[in-house]
Amino acid sequence: MSTSTNYSKNVILLPQTNQLIGLYSIIRDQSTRRGDFVFYSDRIIRLLVEEGLNQLPVQKTIIKCHGNHEYEGAKFLGKICGVSIVRAGESMEMGLRDCCRSVRIGKILIQRDEETALPKLFYEKLPEDISERYVFLLDPMLATGGSAMMAVQVLLARGVQADRIFFLNLLAAPEGIQTFQNKYPEVKIITGGIDQKLNDDKFIVPGLGDFGDRYYGI
Ligand code: PRP
Ligand code: URA
Repeated sequence: MSTSTNYSKNVILLPQTNQLIGLYSIIRDQSTRRGDFVFYSDRIIRLLVEEGLNQLPVQKTIIKCHGNHEYEGAKFLGKICGVSIVRAGESMEMGLRDCCRSVRIGKILIQRDEETALPKLFYEKLPEDISERYVFLLDPMLATGGSAMMAVQVLLARGVQADRIFFLNLLAAPEGIQTFQNKYPEVKIITGGIDQKLNDDKFIVPGLGDFGDRYYGI
């Protein structure tokens, strides 16, 4: 397992607590059945969303508490939305909704070619005012980085500022992080794990297999 110290400050690795390692141990295990895979992936996704929210800018605000006591608190600045990379990224939508009630969620359908591992863009549907928003880009797997980079390209073409994109990701390969960061250094990557490498089929090693297939059971 690599650490985030090998990368720029825009690569944010969740603290590798015993609890988090325990959650990953369950979803990495090839004998884990689908119900558990979904349940424990969802727990990790929730942690990623919480960390994404931690990264948003806030403004100081004074709150009047009971007895008229004042409390110096914080409130979020600006609007957010989610954008999932279909299909596997859709698994992260509920975690975002659980934290941000009625959040808008756009979709970008990108699929890796099974032979070449190169991404293909099929469809996009994004909020009209996305250029004014902070965007949580959702995809559990960052392997070569091709799919995530293609999605960022779509967001930038729609006027989103690069430093307002937060890519939430369960598992990344060092090769993918490097390629992504070289192209989009301002985009923050928030990940729960950085693995050893990619194999010849461009799958993450040790990884967890095909996330979409395991989560959706197809
Ligand atoms: C997987 C995954 C990412 C992509 C990562 O999706 O969810 O989108 O591969 O690989 P990359 O970094 O090399 O581009 P896939 O295209 O297999 O489709 P799926 O979401 O239907 O599983
Ligand atoms: N997509 C996955 O689901 N897993 C990998 O290891 C690589 C791409």
